[in-house]
Amino acid sequence: MTLLSNLTVKLGKNSYKIIIYNNFPLKLKNNFTKIKEYSKIIVITDKTINNIFDDKIHKFCNELKCEKIILPSGEKTKSFKYLEYLMNKILSKKVDRNALLICIGGGVIGDLVGLAASLTLRGIDFIQIPTTLLSQVDSSVGGKTAINSIYGKNLIGTFYQPKIVIISLYFLRKLPKREIISGYAEILKYALIKNKIFFSWLENNGKKILKLNSNACADAIKESCRIKSLIVSKDEKEKNLREILNFGHTFGHALESITGFSNKLNHGESVFLGMYIAIKFSIFMGFCKKSILHDYTNHLDKLNISYKINDYNISASPNLFLKHLKFDKKIKEKKIRFILISDIGKVKVYKLNEEKILLDFLKKEVF
Ligand code: GLY
Repeated sequence: MTLLSNLTVKLGKNSYKIIIYNNFPLKLKNNFTKIKEYSKIIVITDKTINNIFDDKIHKFCNELKCEKIILPSGEKTKSFKYLEYLMNKILSKKVDRNALLICIGGGVIGDLVGLAASLTLRGIDFIQIPTTLLSQVDSSVGGKTAINSIYGKNLIGTFYQPKIVIISLYFLRKLPKREIISGYAEILKYALIKNKIFFSWLENNGKKILKLNSNACADAIKESCRIKSLIVSKDEKEKNLREILNFGHTFGHALESITGFSNKLNHGESVFLGMYIAIKFSIFMGFCKKSILHDYTNHLDKLNISYKINDYNISASPNLFLKHLKFDKKIKEKKIRFILISDIGKVKVYKLNEEKILLDFLKKEVF
C-alpha cells in the first residue's frame, strides 16, 4: 500500500487526517490505530462499488472483522426512506456508542452514511473512503452530511466530521471518464478561487490528471483537499468564508435543476457551465479582466471539456433560469449571493440588489 500524501483538517478536538494512497487501503490499522478500540465496525457501501471491488472489500472486511451493509446505488438513497432503512440495519446489529461506520462509496452514500453516523445513538464515529474523484476532492472532506427533500437537494443534514478520510487512486481506475471529468471541475474550482499557481500547474498537468497519472492525481487531490481543509478549518458551519466553495455552483445548480438533475448534466459538468457563467458575470459587472475568461476557456478547450449551455442541449430562457436560481438554498436576506471572481485565485461575494442587472446579463451574454 503506497502512501502518497497526508494532511490534516484542523478543527480542534475534531481534527482529522486525509490520507492519499495509490492502492486499495487494506491496511487501515497502520494509519488509524484507534481502530482496535471500537466495539463493532460496520462497512457501508453500495451495490455498484461492492460488485466492482468485491474481492478487495471482502478482504478489507475480513481484516477488520467487520460486518457489511449494501445499499442500492444512485441518488434515490439520499432520502428519508433509505436513511430509515440504513439506521434500522445499523441498530439491528446491536451497536453501542463505541461503534464505527466505514463508508466506501461516492458522494451520495458518503452524505447518507455521515448523516446516519451523526444520528445513531446521538453520534458514533465514521470514516470516509471516497471512491469517485468528485467525492475525494469535495464531499468526503468538511463534514457536510445530507439527504434530499421534496423542497430541494441536500436540505436535510448535519455538520459531522469523519475521524479520517482515506483516499485511494485505486478506485479511480474503474471510474467512467465522464466521472473523472466531473471531479476535475471541483479541482479547477479550487485553483480559480484560491490559488493562481495551482491554476498554472493545472494548465500543464490537466491532461495527466484526466489520464489518471498517479503523481499528477495525488498532487491535484492533495492541493484541492488542502484548500478545502483550510476554508473548512476557518468556517466549519458555513457562516461566511465557506460559501466561496460555491463558486460556479449557484449558476450550475440552477441548470441542474432545469434539467431535473438528469443524466443530461452531471454535477461536475454543471460546475464547468456555472463557472463559465460566473466568470462572464464577473466581467459584465466590471470585477475582472476579460483575459480571465480566455484563460478558463483555453484551458478547457485543450482538455476537450464542454462549458457552454448549447453543448449540453439544455433548453432554457433567462426567466426560467432566474426562477431556478431563486430556488437555490444559498439565498440570504431574499437576495441572491453570487461568488464571483476578481482574478484567478481571488473571489468576490456579490449580493444582487436588482434582478434587472442579472436579467440583462443573461439576455446579452448567456442565452
Ligand atoms: N461542497 C461545498 C462544501 O462542502 O462546503
